[in-house]
Amino acid sequence: FNYHKTHFVTSAPDITHLPADIGIEIAFAGRSNAGKSSALNTLTNQKSLARTSKTPGRTQLINLFRVEEHLHLVDLPGYGYAEVPEEMKRKWQRALGEYLQKRDCLRGLIVLMDIRHPLKDLDQQMVQWAVDVNLPVLILLTKADKLASGARKAQLNMVREAILPFQGDIQVEAFSSLKKLGVDKLRIKLDEWFNL
Ligand code: GTP
Ligand code: MG
Repeated sequence: FNYHKTHFVTSAPDITHLPADIGIEIAFAGRSNAGKSSALNTLTNQKSLARTSKTPGRTQLINLFRVEEHLHLVDLPGYGYAEVPEEMKRKWQRALGEYLQKRDCLRGLIVLMDIRHPLKDLDQQMVQWAVDVNLPVLILLTKADKLASGARKAQLNMVREAILPFQGDIQVEAFSSLKKLGVDKLRIKLDEWFNL
């Protein structure tokens, strides 16, 4: 399946404002600036489907994209951005947890982490929440183009080892929007979760 016909549907200020909980939804989560919006654009082969930015915290709204009828991709605002007030960070973190726990149509979670700084506390929290509700996870180690192939493999192996204790359905792959690396792995996973 190719995701090139994916188009924007709507934005929601928070999880309570999302459309009806029907069909199949797959969400992209990760720290601010991890490359979520870029990965969506790369997957769909569109330059500006999701807005990307050098400024962390660019995506403030939850953006919903339609792949086909009742099949949606969700670009979540990044977490962990230092400039956001503590209170807002806590609120968003709580909301994310609730979304993972209560959104019935959510069938898989893509967690994006900069390959140079993976598995920060909040990343681990996201993975833990997903595992707790039996949600399969694909961890994409983004910006893999920033590392030489030896260092890239070392990071990949390190993260694969580190997630074993979570005992969940978790796959880890290297990814680069710049070099189009790992896009096939992402597509195969989405096909599986969407039943395509
Ligand atoms: P928020 O919406 O703020 O949470 O960020 P995001 O996770 O959506 O990140 P975004 O896709 O906007 O990318 C953040 C920055 O990283 C931008 O400057 C991108 O150009 C850059 N970037 C994203 N993917 C890659 C990649 O594969 N390689 C390199 N070198 N840079 C990347
Ligand atoms: Mg974004």
